[in-house]
Amino acid sequence: MKRYWLFLWLTPFFFAESGCQGPVHEKTPDKKWWKEAVVYQIYPRSFKDSDGDGIGDLKGIISKLDYIKSLGVDVVWLNPIYSSPNDDNGYDVSDYRNIMQDFGTMADFDSLINGMHRRGIKLVMDLVVNHSSDEHEWFKQSRSSRTNRYRNYYHWWNAERGKPPSRYSLFDVNHDAWRYDSVTNAYYLHYFSRKQPDLNWENPDLRKEVYGIMKFWADKGIDGFRLDAFQFAAKDTSFPAFPEGYEKKFQLYYAMGPHLHDYLKEMNHEVLSRYDVMGVAEGAGNSFEDAHDLVDADRNELNMAYAFDGVDIAKPEGYSLLHFKEVFSRWDSAFAVNGWLSLFLSNHDQARLVSRFGNDSPEFREPSAKMLATFLMTMRGTPYYYNGDELGMTNIRFTKITDYRDMSIKNEYQHQKDIHADTLQFLERAKFASRDNGRTPFQWDGGPNAGFTTGIPWIPVNPNYMYINAALEEKNPNSCLNYFRKLVLFRKNNPVLVYGKYEMLDKDNPQVYAYTREMEGKKILVLLNFSAKNTRADVKVSLADPKPLLSNYSENPTEVSGHSGFALRPYEATIFQLQ
Ligand code: GLC
Repeated sequence: MKRYWLFLWLTPFFFAESGCQGPVHEKTPDKKWWKEAVVYQIYPRSFKDSDGDGIGDLKGIISKLDYIKSLGVDVVWLNPIYSSPNDDNGYDVSDYRNIMQDFGTMADFDSLINGMHRRGIKLVMDLVVNHSSDEHEWFKQSRSSRTNRYRNYYHWWNAERGKPPSRYSLFDVNHDAWRYDSVTNAYYLHYFSRKQPDLNWENPDLRKEVYGIMKFWADKGIDGFRLDAFQFAAKDTSFPAFPEGYEKKFQLYYAMGPHLHDYLKEMNHEVLSRYDVMGVAEGAGNSFEDAHDLVDADRNELNMAYAFDGVDIAKPEGYSLLHFKEVFSRWDSAFAVNGWLSLFLSNHDQARLVSRFGNDSPEFREPSAKMLATFLMTMRGTPYYYNGDELGMTNIRFTKITDYRDMSIKNEYQHQKDIHADTLQFLERAKFASRDNGRTPFQWDGGPNAGFTTGIPWIPVNPNYMYINAALEEKNPNSCLNYFRKLVLFRKNNPVLVYGKYEMLDKDNPQVYAYTREMEGKKILVLLNFSAKNTRADVKVSLADPKPLLSNYSENPTEVSGHSGFALRPYEATIFQLQ
């Protein structure tokens, strides 16, 4: 088996198939700010550089706060900005209470959060505590001797016990999660790269440290935490052997380990419940039950989780809309009464939204980007929108391994070479799927380096910035950017889109996703053509007088059979008010 199918697209490892649910009885929604929010994710390294070193930074973000405000979003989720040697672009933290030098200083952070709060924007930060950097002081101490007081902050296996039972590493060049360290003649565990040793959550001292760190940031006024890879944090520290082939489905063995819920309850009690903050987990376990146990209000753990069933559907060879509809409908129905979902189709671990789920050809890029935005903004749950997707930014499609910056793809490429796999095929697939596609600099304008930096960008700018950029889109009332703004406002003005009951129509239509949202006497119909062809939606609802509310085309669709069928143009998205 070619191992890279297992690896390159990180997310399959964080989800699992979830069973169907029976009919649901909706109740009056429990209203919360984090349910009504639209979250805008900023990848700081690629957003805006203020000092010409080619790397985005906090002052850069500060200079763009009015832009962010103009989008209408309520919350910014910032990828890690803590001190880090950047093996994994900040997901390897060497000091949790400090700011990465490339990004600025704590004074910059204070200005950033003040600037956001002044504009009514909340800030959610990444909490990366499944692992730290190997350059964190805890790990330096831990590896120095078997009796050091930090030894048990990490997972060690003494070599005189023989080789430890196999554990799969997502990022290691050999996929071996145990790394031998001669200093103490022992192996340490790293589910991600060698420079990301896993923290030992069984150790109460470690947990106390983490809660202290969380309080430090909550006291600075942040409004939430995104718990990175946290479903993997709890481990059976006897390290039992896993059955042969476990690595193909390793999330089943890694996710939701013993005591995970105890740790989350403790975290909630110690920190989350003491502040008005939201908690969102990356990954939602292996079943709906796991997901509910993470987020249901009476559990006192987190507020929402994001599952990967949806985002994983896109493949280089395309995807089935019927499958897509089935997955989103199933998740909606499972959370219709209790719990809450995050909605997303892209982030910093994915290639670009329009290139994966839409059509980035010159003819269809704009309509398909707008159609996908319409989907995300009209479903139940909290939408997460990744920076640059509002412009319809596309994959860069690097051709050489040296173009890439992401350690995970470089390691996997080396692994493919080592096992004599087809590296050309690997690179071809990476053009579609590599996460560096989503990390190229934000395209601000048509000037040098798309206005991102006056220096040399840390990763190449997509050459299409000459015609896809924020400055051009500002001037065009029909741009992706201005359509996105309209959509956010539309969601804000229609709580039915946040809380209302969801019902899928024209279920077996392979090109059209049609659904209604309904609450308190208001009913909205959403028609989305996911194809590049003219098609027809048979919605079979009785429409006395359907009122078109928003569309990515300037002309309304034509009704073809009374009020129940509509002809839709390629990638058309249209919203009607029915009641
Ligand atoms: C999460 C992050 C990803 C990172 C990994 C290890 O999946 O989203 O970017 O590489 O965890 O921290």
